[in-house]
Amino acid sequence: MTIRAVVKGVGHYLPERVVPNSEFEKMIDTSDEWIRSRSGIERRHFAAEGQTTSDLAVRAAKAALEDAGLEANDIDAIIVATSTADLTFPSAATMVQNGLGMTNGFAFDVQAVCAGFVFALSNANALIVSGQAKRALVIGAETFSRILDWEDRGTCVLFGDGAGALILEAAEGEGTNEDRGILAVDLNSDGRYRDILYVDGGVSTQNTGFLRMQGKEVFRHAVEKLAATAHTALGKVGLSGEDVDWIVPHQANLRIIKATAQKMGVPMDRVVVTVQDHGNTSAASIPLALSVGKERGQIKPGDLVVTEAIGGGLAWGSVVLRW
Ligand code: UT7
Repeated sequence: MTIRAVVKGVGHYLPERVVPNSEFEKMIDTSDEWIRSRSGIERRHFAAEGQTTSDLAVRAAKAALEDAGLEANDIDAIIVATSTADLTFPSAATMVQNGLGMTNGFAFDVQAVCAGFVFALSNANALIVSGQAKRALVIGAETFSRILDWEDRGTCVLFGDGAGALILEAAEGEGTNEDRGILAVDLNSDGRYRDILYVDGGVSTQNTGFLRMQGKEVFRHAVEKLAATAHTALGKVGLSGEDVDWIVPHQANLRIIKATAQKMGVPMDRVVVTVQDHGNTSAASIPLALSVGKERGQIKPGDLVVTEAIGGGLAWGSVVLRW
């Protein structure tokens, strides 16, 4: 008997305020045409004043619980992937726990920037497979609008706010690739590249800081590393691009998404794309895309799904799961 971490529910929340590319034309030297053609982004959502990452996460978590037909106290573990927690501490995850009225179990954050949700999924899988948790609520939630330099046109047009949540539950499998649940994981990081995508402040340096990115360099690593990590994860269980029903990639740039799919030999009609509507929501982008992909009727039970992401660190990885 093999214990699998199987998807039980999914949900998301996007803040009300939608900001089209044209709004940036009034603020900085940019154009809708440049943003669309270089990134694929057409609009993004920004959190309202006072609305925090855990507020978004709680809304997404409630949607996932409803989808799963579960109550908060049915959950054993909450993992929130975020780089924009409300406070230095406690974790966003304990705030979500409180926001849901959950009085049992445990909650903690994972910080691997845009790859955070993949790292969180891997952690949740390990907790479930080892018997430490039966049900895990895995959330990606961000308010990147709070760390954008509105004078840096190379970054401020690219990011958005939002949250997505997935509930995983322990289930018995056969130990084959036909099992539902997480089948394989591949995680990587390389701190030599810490200065091509970072925030130039933090608690220990005593200022909040702004996001800084050498876009072209990150782009180059993304195209090379995303297909490689997906290939590695699939290879661990003897699968390849041909077996994939849906790639659900980190939504940073449509050109990166297309190049990765091409390298994996997967046509674009088997890729869930939301970047045009959400922008780059960092750790929230994959669970948002999973939820929207299910809502659109793209992802169905039994489908083989591959998620892949890269972000600051650099940190990158991939999860293969049967929905
Ligand atoms: O989520 C974490 C992972 N992050 C990513 O994956 C992001 C990776 N990088 C990218 O997506 C792309 O590199 C960008 C979308 C950030 C930029 O696209 P690019 O094709 O690499 O453009 P570039 O940075 O080489 O800039 C080209 C030109 C420059 O002008 P010059 O030097 O050629 O005269 C920039 O100054 O575009 C200029 N530019 C802009 N022009 C209008 C940069 N930002 C803007 C802007 N509007 N917003």
